[in-house]
Amino acid sequence: MYSFDAVIVGGGLAGLRAAYELTKNKIKTAIISKVYPIRSHSIAAQGGVNAPLNNIERAVSDNWENHAQDTIKGSDYLGDQDAIIKMCKEATSRIYEIEHWGCPFSRTDDGRISQRPFGGQGFPRTAYAADRTGHAMLHTLFEQIIRINEQNNCLTFFDEWFVTRLIVEDKLVRGLIALDLKAGDLHAFKTDAVIIATGGAGRLYGKSTNALINTGTGMAISYWAGADLKDMEFIQFHPTTLYGTNILVTEGARGEGAYLLNSHGERFLSNYEDSKKSMEIAPRDIVSRNMIKEIKKGNAINGQYLLLDLRHIGKKAIMERLPGVVELAGKFAGINAITEQIPVEPGQHYTMGGIDTDADCRTKIDGFYAAGEAACVSVHGANRLGGNSLLETIVFGAIAGENTVKYLSANKKGNNSAILIESASKEEKEKNSQIFERGGKENVFNLFEEMNSVMWNNVGIFRDDAQLKEGIKNLRGIKERCNNIGIRYKGKRFNFELYWLLELIGSIDIAEAVIMGAIERKESRGSHYRTDYPKRDDERYLKHTIASYSPEGARLSYKPVTIGFIEPAERKY
Ligand code: FUM
Repeated sequence: MYSFDAVIVGGGLAGLRAAYELTKNKIKTAIISKVYPIRSHSIAAQGGVNAPLNNIERAVSDNWENHAQDTIKGSDYLGDQDAIIKMCKEATSRIYEIEHWGCPFSRTDDGRISQRPFGGQGFPRTAYAADRTGHAMLHTLFEQIIRINEQNNCLTFFDEWFVTRLIVEDKLVRGLIALDLKAGDLHAFKTDAVIIATGGAGRLYGKSTNALINTGTGMAISYWAGADLKDMEFIQFHPTTLYGTNILVTEGARGEGAYLLNSHGERFLSNYEDSKKSMEIAPRDIVSRNMIKEIKKGNAINGQYLLLDLRHIGKKAIMERLPGVVELAGKFAGINAITEQIPVEPGQHYTMGGIDTDADCRTKIDGFYAAGEAACVSVHGANRLGGNSLLETIVFGAIAGENTVKYLSANKKGNNSAILIESASKEEKEKNSQIFERGGKENVFNLFEEMNSVMWNNVGIFRDDAQLKEGIKNLRGIKERCNNIGIRYKGKRFNFELYWLLELIGSIDIAEAVIMGAIERKESRGSHYRTDYPKRDDERYLKHTIASYSPEGARLSYKPVTIGFIEPAERKY
């Protein structure tokens, strides 16, 4: 059995930022990650990270209050204002911290960090490293982790390991079980603190900008162990994903001035009341809905997609600020984005909900923290503003790390749970052998795709009661059929049939929480649009949805939203 003071699950930006705090404080820590850390999905973040740096002329009067106001309004007033204020107050210092660590941000002519406009924000506030901001930040942070660990030598990486179970006793975290994917063996870990930083659940959907690893199983193991999930019904759809593959085409392109066009060459967003003023930089929920309306009106190319036009921005600026867009349009669609328009459609992009934490990243289980997209702190509420997710990872990753250090120093080590952990480990091993031994006609990959179809068709950009209820019925049918999945390949090493079956079981429970929350939220707010309840209803639904696990399905309850800075008002752009 392994023994660590703290275990971080997830090696992306939030996990690494937490690891920095633990390593700095010489805490014996493990990072368990399904992939090598610099393969984490944070690498895919393109457009930028928000902070009121006041570095360009149009943003000189920006400040944390403006940033907080835009974020609260963007969240359709469902974000917790204490957490939002914390994030916005820390934004500038966290960006300069990572800059001083060497992050290669794009520059203004006089050498400061440059900033571009992003959707739903009153000032150009988004700092960027061309259109590879996540890549630049993740590599910078990883270098710092290596550097500090060379000094303190207390951090161990378990790359390509998959956590299958969290062990909690009397609301106190005790350990976890993880599968070494390379060797195929299960291992037990004893620990006093766990930070979940496993990212979102985008791959509940097939049409998604997310990496295939974003299955939501970090949320699932937490949920099964007794942590609550919050606001799971709020799924963000990004307006511009490459038609056919759904690779992200950054909002930074529209921030730099790109147009969205229909099949008649019109900037159709001017025809919709809620986007006619802000046009391409209206918030994502609004732009995605208007794109779907435009497609349904028959104004899409081949009835399928719309066009993103960068051509007027000019080759020099495009190559300087959006080289990744040119590369991906060329490689994946055969389009030269400097001279041709890019085919785009909305696709799933972000999970606003996640593990319920307070503004200190604490859950209701002692010693158990969450940060980044896996968590719902909640700074995004019903709709996240672009550029706030990278910010969330570095602000709340650090907070989760700092609070874990404090927790460990205040709580004397009393983890005498070896017997409990051994017995959990034995159960996991037996469960996996039974999966290997049982026959079964169902194919795990087909069932994963069926779940994806249910989520896209029944829990998409527009929702209604009948669709959602059909969705839950179909999802439960798929869950039932998981008992009949057969594993054809019996080898231990990199057994992807077993691995994907374990992922699928977690994803289905997360999907169930999404749909249940969506059925019960009989209003439209941010990304959750109900055609049968098209208005926001603060009287009944200005509250967070809480989903608690039960073997029969999600049990829902509600808790208040923290207000205090600005009162909810009509959300107009
Ligand atoms: O479009 C983008 O570059 C995405 C940014 C974000 O989701 O924050």
